Amino acid sequence: MVKKVTKIGVLTSGGDSPGMNAAIRAVVRTGIYHGLEMYGIMRGYQGLIEDDIAKMETRSVANIIQRGGTILKTARCKDFYEYEGRKKAYKNLKKRGINGLVVIGGDGSFRGAVKFSQEFDIPCIGLAGTIDKDIHGTDFTIGFDTAVNTAVEAIDKIRDTMDAHDRVFIIEVMGRDAGYIALHSGIATGAENILIPERKTDIKDLVLSLQEKERRKKLVNLIVVAEGDGFGGANEVQKIIQDELPNSEIRVCILGHIQRGGAPSCLDRLIASRMGYHAVECLREGRHNVFVGILNNKMHYIPLENAVKTKSKISDEWMKIVKILAS
Ligand code: F6P
Repeated sequence: MVKKVTKIGVLTSGGDSPGMNAAIRAVVRTGIYHGLEMYGIMRGYQGLIEDDIAKMETRSVANIIQRGGTILKTARCKDFYEYEGRKKAYKNLKKRGINGLVVIGGDGSFRGAVKFSQEFDIPCIGLAGTIDKDIHGTDFTIGFDTAVNTAVEAIDKIRDTMDAHDRVFIIEVMGRDAGYIALHSGIATGAENILIPERKTDIKDLVLSLQEKERRKKLVNLIVVAEGDGFGGANEVQKIIQDELPNSEIRVCILGHIQRGGAPSCLDRLIASRMGYHAVECLREGRHNVFVGILNNKMHYIPLENAVKTKSKISDEWMKIVKILAS
C-alpha cells in the first residue's frame, strides 16, 4: 500500500535556472491548497543534511514568480554522494514527518534523489530545472527558454559590432555537455556555423568554408560554439582557425553566467507552474519517484532513474537547416 503523503519538502539543487522560483511557488501553493504542510529546504541537499529547513506558507512564495535565481538557494552537495550524508538528511526529514520530496534541478540532482528514495522511505519527484535542456523525457526544462533568449539578445548586440567591423566572431554559450543553447541561439541569430558536442565538426571543412567566404568578401561570420564542443570552447577554436584565415579579424566572446540569471521568460514561468502543480499531484496520487516532464504539450511521467540515464538527442533536420540557411 502506498503511504499517504502529508508533508512535502521542496529544494533546488545544482546550477540555478530562471523559473525555479515559479516552480517553488507552484509546489508550495498546490500543497497548501490540498491541506498539506509544505517545507522549503535551503541550499539543496546541503540544507537537507544540515537541517536548514523551514515551513512555508502561501505568503512565503509571494512576489517571486518573476524573479530569477532561487529563493531557496542552491548548491552542488558532495556530502550527499555519501551514505552518511543521505542518512543525516533522512533523519532531518523524519523528525518533522516530511514524507515527500520535490527536487528541482538537473540530472546530477536526480541521481541523488534516486539513491535517496531507494535507501529511505521518502518518495521523490524530479522537475527539470536547468538551462542546459539535457534531460530525457521532456520538451522543456525550466530556465532553458530564458537562457536562450538572453544569449540571443547578447549575440544580436555583438552582431552590430561584427557587422560594423567586418569581423568573424566566435561566441561561446553554456550548456555543459549539451548543445541546445548553442543550436537554438545560433539558429535564431543566423549563425553561419554552430559547433555542438552532439555532432563532430570537421575543422578542415569549417576553415575551407570560411576561406571561401573570405574570397567572396563575406567577412562577417558568426560562429556559435557550445562550451562542451569537441575542441574545448571558443578560445581553442580561434587558435585553430586564426592562422588559416590571415585576412579575417577574429574575436571571441564567452557569454558565461549572464545566461543563468534574469527574470524568467513567460514560457519558463508557465512550464514551471505547470510542472510544480503536477509534482504535488503525483505525490498525492501515489505516483512516486517519477520525473515530471511535458511532451507534446501533455504531462509525461517517467521513472526518475530514466531521466538520469538518457540524454536528449538533437535531430539531423536541425543540422541540415543550419547548413542550408547559412549559405
Ligand atoms: O548546468 C548549468 C550550467 O550553467 C552549465 O551550462 C555550465 O556548464 C555549468 O552550469 C557552470 O557551472 P558553475 O556555475 O558551477 O560554474
